[in-house]
Amino acid sequence: MRFTALHRTGGKLIVLYSLLILLLTLFLMFFFSGLVRDIHLKILTREMSEKISFIALELDPGDAKRPAYRRDQVRPVLRRLSEIIDLRITLVDASGVVIGDSSGEPDSMDNHRYRREILQTAGGGFGSSIRYSNTLKTGMLYHAKKHGDIFIRVAKPLYEVDASVATARRTILFTGAMLLAIALLLNILISRYISRPITRSIEFANRFAGGDLTTRIQNYRDDEVGVLQKSLNNLADSMDAKITNLMIERSKLRTLIESIHDPIAFIDSDMKIMIANGSFIGLWGTGSAGATEGKLFYTVIRNSSINSKIEYSIKTQSGACFEEQVGGMRYEVFLNTIREYSRLQGLLLIFHDITERKKIEQLKTDLVGNLSHELKTPIAIVKGYLETIGRNLDNRDMCGEFIESALANVDRQASIITDMLKLNRIETASFVKEERIRIDEIIGNCVKILSPKAQGMNIALDFSPGNSPAPVNGNAFLAEEVFFNIIDNAINYNRENGSVAVAVSETERQIAVEIRDTGIGIPAGSLERIFERFYQVDKGRSRNTGGTGLGLAIVKHSAQLLGWELSVDSSDSGTSFTVTIPKPA
Ligand SMILES: Nc1ncnc2c1ncn2[C@@H]1O[C@H](COP(=O)(O)OP(=O)(O)O)[C@@H](O)[C@H]1O
Ligand SMILES: [Mg+2]
Repeated sequence: MRFTALHRTGGKLIVLYSLLILLLTLFLMFFFSGLVRDIHLKILTREMSEKISFIALELDPGDAKRPAYRRDQVRPVLRRLSEIIDLRITLVDASGVVIGDSSGEPDSMDNHRYRREILQTAGGGFGSSIRYSNTLKTGMLYHAKKHGDIFIRVAKPLYEVDASVATARRTILFTGAMLLAIALLLNILISRYISRPITRSIEFANRFAGGDLTTRIQNYRDDEVGVLQKSLNNLADSMDAKITNLMIERSKLRTLIESIHDPIAFIDSDMKIMIANGSFIGLWGTGSAGATEGKLFYTVIRNSSINSKIEYSIKTQSGACFEEQVGGMRYEVFLNTIREYSRLQGLLLIFHDITERKKIEQLKTDLVGNLSHELKTPIAIVKGYLETIGRNLDNRDMCGEFIESALANVDRQASIITDMLKLNRIETASFVKEERIRIDEIIGNCVKILSPKAQGMNIALDFSPGNSPAPVNGNAFLAEEVFFNIIDNAINYNRENGSVAVAVSETERQIAVEIRDTGIGIPAGSLERIFERFYQVDKGRSRNTGGTGLGLAIVKHSAQLLGWELSVDSSDSGTSFTVTIPKPA
């Protein structure tokens, strides 16, 4: 049972009552039965005294030597008298010898000299005593008086007295039992009246504490307990409203932090995670809010460097901001202290993803470095030529030669700038102006432009356009950039008497263009990097062919914009580039 305390109090009280009633009953029983017995005996002895006087009158004078006291004569007299007064009568002489008895044989009887009732008559008055009779199984009251030189003794069994005492006891016992029953009944009634509303209130409080916010106490009485119950209901109303408000606030807060892309969590001053959003749970791989919230932060965040900073922040009550690597991502971590009345409530953790920003920053730094290097080199060369020309103005032949070399370097710088601008334009373009293009036509154009160069280098340039593939959606300018640069490279990085073969094949879903050369090949370690800007396997060779190191970067970005795929395969005996073009659905 849930309300043992209350029941225990009631139980204790009833035991106390019962004990009290029991004691009182026992006391009354013994006190009154004694009283009844005393009164009864007093009346009986008085009657006996009167009857002894009557016997004395009948037997007068009390002279034992008279023939009337001879045993054979006295007996019928005693019997008659005994019948009249309804008592046993015994006559005893001065020496204690029984002279006659109304109901017994004097010869068989002991000497009565020292019986209490006989001894007590010594002063001349009556003597009494009560003895238990084994034959009658009851007490016997003996009463005696000296009359002349004989003792007259009467006796009566105490049946009546015993019966009266028993009646008195029964009456008292019955009254006690009644009292006990009434007390029990009263106790039940009173405890019901008092304890039931309290029990109901306790039940209500337990239900409310258990989360049933709608529970209330029903039907309260118009008394103090009722007022208390009414107040409890009011308390429940206001708590219900406050809890509901809190829940709304909490769900607003949760929606808010869930809508934030960055991993966020709040750690309280006990170092436990109070609330965390989905990104945070995903970042630390705990799987669910249940396995994250309420846990100590260092059991969730598995990064000792971050954890020691969080611990330091809580200890010193100061915020912090630092960068940290977590599983291949770079985060800017903010530890913001949350205070209330200048006391630290906890720490708000924000993991701001700066991986992309860092990459771009790195790219920018690299680009500026590369670009300035690439631009500085031709200028330094041109400057050298101009200085030499300036010192040798009279040597016209030499000047002519140097001017030509200087011009070549100026051209190179111009192409770098042109390519840079082109690449920049392609890179920053977010969309392509789409048009219907024919792949075979565009490749044919490129081949036409590059043929003289191939011829000049003794390289066979062969183009098989296939069965004039279907036109696709694309952009002619970008498409030309792709094929021109790849074919140009195939010529540039070829061998003496080598060849370049461009082949177009078509399936239902796509067009594939393969540009295969018999050139010097690309070392396996460089295959990954050839699409980076300014990356060249052999700077010297590339300079001779007029390469800027930007060609394949332009190819890569153009293909990306067009939605085309690129793949390279290379070995010692040559390189093969494949461009895969999806056909419109
Ligand atoms: N077909 C090819 N065979 C061998 N090497 C190649 C081939 N195509 C490209 N490369 C290598 O990739 C580098 C980058 O090419 P690219 O971006 O066009 O720059 P470049 O201006 O040097 O040609 C080249 O310098 C060259 O080392
Ligand atoms: Mg090139």
